[in-house]
Amino acid sequence: MGCGCSRKRSNSIQLLTGDDLSASTDKTALRRCTCRKTVARSALVLLLSLLGAFMVVWVVIPVSFMLSLPFQTFMVFVPIDSPRNADFDRPESFGLEGVRNFHISTRDYYQNDTWTSIGAWMLLPEDEISSSASSNVTEILQNTQKDILVYLHGVLANRAKALEQYRVLRRHFLVVAIDHRGYGDSGRNVRMGEEGMAHDHVQIFQWIKSINPQRDVYYWGHSMGSGISARTLKLLNQQHSISPTGLILESPFTSLEDVVSTMVLGRMFSWLAYFEAAILRPLATNGFHFRSKENIQSIDCPVMILHAEDDMIVSFSLGEALAQVAQDTREPHQGPVLFQGISADYGFGHNDIVHHPEIDDFIQNFQAICQNFTH
Ligand SMILES: *[C@@H]1O[C@H](CO)[C@@H](O)[C@H](O)[C@H]1NC(C)=O
Ligand SMILES: *[C@@H]1O[C@H](CO)[C@@H](O)[C@H](O)[C@H]1NC(C)=O
Repeated sequence: MGCGCSRKRSNSIQLLTGDDLSASTDKTALRRCTCRKTVARSALVLLLSLLGAFMVVWVVIPVSFMLSLPFQTFMVFVPIDSPRNADFDRPESFGLEGVRNFHISTRDYYQNDTWTSIGAWMLLPEDEISSSASSNVTEILQNTQKDILVYLHGVLANRAKALEQYRVLRRHFLVVAIDHRGYGDSGRNVRMGEEGMAHDHVQIFQWIKSINPQRDVYYWGHSMGSGISARTLKLLNQQHSISPTGLILESPFTSLEDVVSTMVLGRMFSWLAYFEAAILRPLATNGFHFRSKENIQSIDCPVMILHAEDDMIVSFSLGEALAQVAQDTREPHQGPVLFQGISADYGFGHNDIVHHPEIDDFIQNFQAICQNFTH
């Protein structure tokens, strides 16, 4: 392998003659030698850097992940405040009218002698905004003429994120948007986990029902929130033999394991021989399951699944597979399962399905199905 710099030097010596030549040849040889050394050194540095990068990315990161519960918790829940520094007490600052900020205490699943203050917004239905002046959420829950919808957000979010979603949902429901423990102002330094979150939501459902036993209650879970809502509804059914009226899952998945194995970040590691040992098994051991494909079999209410073909975060195939499992395994008395695959032509991706031109029809049709099913 020749090196560029030595060739250039050898061109330039042709202009020299006599004594100059032998002197400069020596010099050139010396230069050539130095040049080779430099190249060799650069190659070595490059090789070591690549090896180092490889070690960091494919060895240090997976091993740290395997050993660190905080690292796993962070990667599963991405509890970064979004939007940042939200003033939940001033929903007006997000252009929202008719929203009441409130907190509800739940008994901690992990330490049952402690209580966590869970932050939530109650968003009046669009056509009740002007008529209801009450700031008392109990009274609002008692007096609403609309069905109630509990909205559970996904990762990298708090309750001030899904503003576009609320705008649509408020046309049909009184919306209760809840921050899972560890998000927004729900708890300080609390342990974040699927089971803890689901147990909080079980208690909040019971609180809603205790105030207004008559009204139908729906759940809407987006992305990670779909996993939490499926888990919550299974617990409600198993432990308390109650179900809400209907469950809507937006951009959902079959299990955390399936998400990790199919998403872009996961595929960087899924070819490693120790992927199972360093990534999947520690997650399962530490209680990060989100096994919606199993939970959905123990939920006794109609389910509607919405998923866009161009979802780049959670693959469309996972939403489709969840619908398939649900349709194949649930008994008729558990209620029907609807699947709305959204064409990639719309470009709605992971977050924007509520912009679908027929979203109001989807919701109203589902409400009608649920009504017929319950009554
Ligand atoms: C709290 O946990 C203890 C020990 O696990 C158990 O005996 C007790 O019944 C629990 N209390 C409640 C209110 O769940
Ligand atoms: C809210 O209304 C309920 C029912 O009318 C009442 O029992 C409760 O005391 C009220 N809470 C506050 C803080 O005013």
